[in-house]
Amino acid sequence: MKKKTFYITTPIYYPSDKLHIGHSYCTVAADVMARYKRMQGFDVMFLTGTDEHGQKIEDKAKAAGVTPQQYVDNIVAGIKDLWKLMNISNDRFIRTTDDYHQQSVQKIFKELYDRGDIYKGSYKGKYCTPCESFWTESQLIDGKCPDCGREVAETEEEAYFFRLSKYADRLMHYYYEENPHFIEPQSRLNEMVNNFIRPGLEDLCVSRTTFTWGVPVTFDPGHIVYVWVDALSNYITALGYGNSRYHDFEKYWPADVHFVGKEITRFHTIVWPAMLMALDLPLPKRVFGHGWLLLEGGKMSKSKGNVVDPVVLCGRYGVDSLRYFLLREFPFGSDGVFSNEALINRINSDLANDLGNLVSRTLSMAKKYFGQAIPQDRDFISPDDQLIHMAEELRGRYEEAMERYAFQDALVEVFKVVARANKYIDETAPWALGKDPAQAGRLAAVLYNLLEIIRISAILLTPFIPDSVEKIMRQLGVDESAAKYESALYFANTEYCVNKTENLFPRIDMKKELELLEQKQAEQEAAGAQPAAKQAKPKAEQPKDAAPEGIITIDDFKKVKLIVAKVTACEPVPKSDKLLRLSLDDGTGTGRQVVSGIHQWYQPEDLVGKKVVVVANLRPAKLRGVMSEGMILAADSVKPDGAEDVRVVFMDDSIPCGSSIH
Ligand code: MSP
Repeated sequence: MKKKTFYITTPIYYPSDKLHIGHSYCTVAADVMARYKRMQGFDVMFLTGTDEHGQKIEDKAKAAGVTPQQYVDNIVAGIKDLWKLMNISNDRFIRTTDDYHQQSVQKIFKELYDRGDIYKGSYKGKYCTPCESFWTESQLIDGKCPDCGREVAETEEEAYFFRLSKYADRLMHYYYEENPHFIEPQSRLNEMVNNFIRPGLEDLCVSRTTFTWGVPVTFDPGHIVYVWVDALSNYITALGYGNSRYHDFEKYWPADVHFVGKEITRFHTIVWPAMLMALDLPLPKRVFGHGWLLLEGGKMSKSKGNVVDPVVLCGRYGVDSLRYFLLREFPFGSDGVFSNEALINRINSDLANDLGNLVSRTLSMAKKYFGQAIPQDRDFISPDDQLIHMAEELRGRYEEAMERYAFQDALVEVFKVVARANKYIDETAPWALGKDPAQAGRLAAVLYNLLEIIRISAILLTPFIPDSVEKIMRQLGVDESAAKYESALYFANTEYCVNKTENLFPRIDMKKELELLEQKQAEQEAAGAQPAAKQAKPKAEQPKDAAPEGIITIDDFKKVKLIVAKVTACEPVPKSDKLLRLSLDDGTGTGRQVVSGIHQWYQPEDLVGKKVVVVANLRPAKLRGVMSEGMILAADSVKPDGAEDVRVVFMDDSIPCGSSIH
């Protein structure tokens, strides 16, 4: 029998800068959904990618002194690494600079033109470059872009227009008659209708002539396809529409769901369906507009400076912990405020205390009392029924939430059962049963019940924390069929072969961790970097010739004085398990002292006698009361198990102390 298909997409991200935790949010959610549907037996197509054209990218590349293609190649490589690190299981990755996509976009544009849905006119209005959007005077807020709050520029150009206005009635019909669940959550439907459709849809300007980094209009040289037409088309070109690179259009289109951030719901629920109507193609079944992760004080934004780096967070807390936190902490449709404290609290309470404890207590008791397998001679008694019933009903409740994309609700259901099982341990007191040989049958039933609950919960947690579930299943020693979705429906007389336990989610010392993060922030501040929680200066206040954020000029780089120095002595900083104090011979004769947060990875004897690279003109700063006159360079990476790894940059011993590095 042919498998049912499920096609899910994320927005394609602008590779204008490194991605932050807000971007990871949507990709993790889509990944969870894709894994869930695969687990259910669907033939899944999970697409993500990058939206690489437009004036902003062209400007950034220019400022960086590279071609736009070089600029995006570099950032896209980082984005792909991030998805790999975060265990994202996308089936395809589309780049709008891929040849096949560009050719398809040209065909789509021409097709719309031939059908009379694109026509030539002239545009006069306000343009926001970072958002690549035109606005009318009345749409501006305080004269600025209504989406991002930045300055807009007066523009007039000859341009092509898409007859968006023609589709208003058909869109309304689709929303209210044909597919009432098209826009989720429902509040976004009201927003689209009241803010955009009812006031009257205007035709959309779909070509540009003021820059060149984009897909050229084949029949009118000098015109570039509007970046949103280029970008939205990705959802079909990636399946082979208009090209022969892929051949899955018939199989997967229409998409089951597009996950998008709330601010781009408008493009996905108005412009995109209208384009598809004009092309005579089926419409996506659903668009889910999720909320934003905010920092206290505002939105996280690549262009605002208050970014939280998912690579750092995965390194400190593990990929699964971060994945879990993102979907457990915030209802998917609403905004939420991100904080390190909330993250640590959530890991400690749910993963370390509830799930981690349940697994480690159960497994160590099973091992202690029965070795590996649980004897078949089991005395079940009626109080077990309520627990078993709750576990056997869990999959239904979980599924009901997952089908609504209510990830938080699905996790709450699983953790209710986990909490109930922990309570069951306290109620049944297996340690007391273990003392009485006559209670062996009862003890076997209790531990079997607990193992089954762990197994069922783990199956349902697979999409969220796949690596940890794999470890749990290994520890349980169950065969593959017992780890399948079908087996999450009932207690299955599963055979266990309990293995060595390993602490899955170590408890994080909140106080120490926050101190460490604060210290990292102090180091960044000392190094002149923007603290994560503060906003960068608004663009308007920056000097005119300043490079875009994330890019420095050669003159900026020359400001950093890097020299070679030898570590002559080294000792831990008192009352800190992270910091080392290094005495350095920097060739000046007087030496200098540097405090470095590398004790977790290096002992003093690993460093004494070695030559290192020092940032010599850093403003001195006190760390834990000890003066630090510079910073040594080290590479920061993430090991396959998600742990952070730091390697100091050592220099060849033949290089004299004080040599400068350019
Ligand atoms: N390139 C367009 C999308 C084209 S899709 C055909 C784009 N790119 S983006 O990189 O600016 O944003 C991509 C997605 O990231 C958007 O859905 C946006 O809402 C999401 N997020 C960016 N910052 C976010 C948060 N702080 N929180 C949650 N999501 C956020 O728009």
